[in-house]
Amino acid sequence: MELVLGIESTCDETGVALVRGRELVADVVASSMQEHARFGGIVPEVASRAHLEALVPTLHEALSRSGHTLGDVDAIAVAAGPGLVGSLTVGVAAAKALALALDRPLYGVNHVIGHAAVDELVHGPFPERTMALVVSGGHTSLLLVEDIATGVTELGRTLDDAAGEAFDKVGRLLNLPYPGGPQVDRLAREGDACAIAFPRALTAPKDRQRHAYNFSFSGLKTAVARWIEACEDSGRAVPVADVAASFAAAVADVLVTKTLDACERHEVDTVVIGGGFSANSQLRERAMNAGANRGIDVRIPPLKYCTDNGAMIAALGSALVARGVKPSAWTMGVDSSMSLETVSV
Ligand code: KG4
Ligand code: ZN
Repeated sequence: MELVLGIESTCDETGVALVRGRELVADVVASSMQEHARFGGIVPEVASRAHLEALVPTLHEALSRSGHTLGDVDAIAVAAGPGLVGSLTVGVAAAKALALALDRPLYGVNHVIGHAAVDELVHGPFPERTMALVVSGGHTSLLLVEDIATGVTELGRTLDDAAGEAFDKVGRLLNLPYPGGPQVDRLAREGDACAIAFPRALTAPKDRQRHAYNFSFSGLKTAVARWIEACEDSGRAVPVADVAASFAAAVADVLVTKTLDACERHEVDTVVIGGGFSANSQLRERAMNAGANRGIDVRIPPLKYCTDNGAMIAALGSALVARGVKPSAWTMGVDSSMSLETVSV
C-alpha cells in the first residue's frame, strides 16, 4: 500500500503526517496559537510566517519518527482549502515543491472533509453512509458521506458564527482569556444547565422546513450578552457557571438534535464528530447519550486528531489514492472558501 505524506497549514497549526492505507505511521504538529493569544484572535500574517518557519522542521521530525526518508513517499496530499489564504499558500507551495522534486502525484484536499476522514484511522472504515458533523472555531458543517473520496454532500452549515467561535465570544463576555471555548466548558461543568432558558435557533416549526440542517449561534451569543447586562443592571452578581452551563446546553442541544434528526431522515446509523470543538464536554456527553437512545453509533476520534493535524490530510489523501482518484493539476491554487462538496481539486 502507498505511503502518503499529508501537509496541513490552513490556520494556526502546521501538521505533517505519514499514512499507509488506514495506518497512521507518524504525525507531528507545531502550533502558533500562543503567538496569537495576545491579539485575542488569529492574525493571518503571523500564522503564515509561523508556517513558513515550522514546515521543514515539522517534516523532518515526522520523517525521523516514521523511520522513512522522503524517497519512500508515494504520494503527497495537502490541504488546499478552506482556510487562510497565506497559510494555505505556504503548505501548497511546499507540497508542490516536494511532489515536483520527488516526481510523485499531488492531491489538493478539503480540510473540513479531512476532519471526518481522520476517524477512519482510529475507528476503521466508514459504513456505506455516514453523517459527519465538523465543528471548530471556523466551521459548523453537517455532511452526508457516501464515499469519503468521491461522495460528500453538504446538508447544512452555520449561517453565522461557528460553535467554537460562539464559545470564544461568550468567553469574552465572561472576561475569560482567549481562547474562551475550553474555559466556558470548564465553568459549565460547575453550573446548572437548566438555570436560564437560552434560545435554540432554527428549531421552530417554521425554520424546520428551510433550515432543517442549518445552524445559527450569533442570536444565542446576543441573548447571553443581554442576559448578563440585565443581571448587572439590576445590581446582582452574574452567576457565571449557570450562564456557561445554560449556554453550552443550548449549543450542544441544537448540534446533537439536528445531527441525529438528519441521520434518521437519511437512514444513516453512524455519526462521526470532528474538529476542535468536539473536545467540548457538553457536546460529547449529549451526543453519546442521545446516540445510544436513538440507536445511532457516535464516533469521536481522540482529541489530538480532532484539532488541526497532518493525519487528517494524509488520511483523506490515502482514501483518494486507494479509489484511484486523479491527482490535482500543477496549476492548482488555494481556495479559502472551498465548497464542502469538493473533496479534492
Ligand atoms: O479545530 P480547532 O482547533 O481550530 C479551528 O477553529 O480550526 O477549533 C478550535 C475552536 C476554538 O474556537 C476553541 O475555543 C474551541 O474550538 N474549543 C472549545 C473546546 N475546545 C476547543 N470550545 C468549547 N469547549 C471546548 N472544550
Ligand atoms: Zn480544522
